[in-house]
Amino acid sequence: MNTTPTPLLVFAGSTRARSFNRQLAAVAADLGREAGAAVTHLELADFDIPLYNADLEAQGTPRDVVRLKEICFAHPGWIVVSPEYNGSYTALLKNTIDWVSSPIKGDPNWSSGTKPFAGKVVGLLSASPGALGGLRSLSHLAPLLMNLQCWVSPKQFALSKAGEAFTPEGQLVNEPAKENVCGVVAQVLWAARRFQG
Ligand code: FNR
Repeated sequence: MNTTPTPLLVFAGSTRARSFNRQLAAVAADLGREAGAAVTHLELADFDIPLYNADLEAQGTPRDVVRLKEICFAHPGWIVVSPEYNGSYTALLKNTIDWVSSPIKGDPNWSSGTKPFAGKVVGLLSASPGALGGLRSLSHLAPLLMNLQCWVSPKQFALSKAGEAFTPEGQLVNEPAKENVCGVVAQVLWAARRFQG
């Protein structure tokens, strides 16, 4: 039996200082560690990635895009925590995915745009101050990721009324909410371990 900890990538589609989705990503990362995964918890703010423009790309793919491609490729399981803007995911998330999925001309290592995504098991979470918890963003994000050959975990969780959902220390107030996040993390790790063979 393979006892190597499964690499799990966790990131949120917000860079806001007091972002609910960043807080939820931190909870998911903790739960991943408790479940025995080797967690990489990324902040997209740590990546210097401009707005996608093919002319800009023709001058050279930014170093941080290549760094993110490598990180994505190295993790068989991901948790993506998506804010909802106007019923969909954020421009930050889309821009990041667009760059990471763009092939690098002249680099045989990255000639396939889907390489960082293909075969990854992705669990989706969202958080919003609203009653639906950003659920609609996930209904847009799932087909986008499937188009890139990701396996989207059937379990998802949208945290509603996020303004009241966290303690000052960043823990989830409600146990059922924590159990739902735990369920998504566990399912991603379960499937990712099997996909690793
Ligand atoms: C929002 N927000 C929002 N919330 C929601 O539940 N459904 C929506 O469609 C929208 N639309 C929307 C559009 C725009 C342009 C903004 C700026 C915001 C509110 C949003 O969920 C809220 O600002 C969250 O706090 C954003 O996530 P973070 O940054 O807290 O992770």
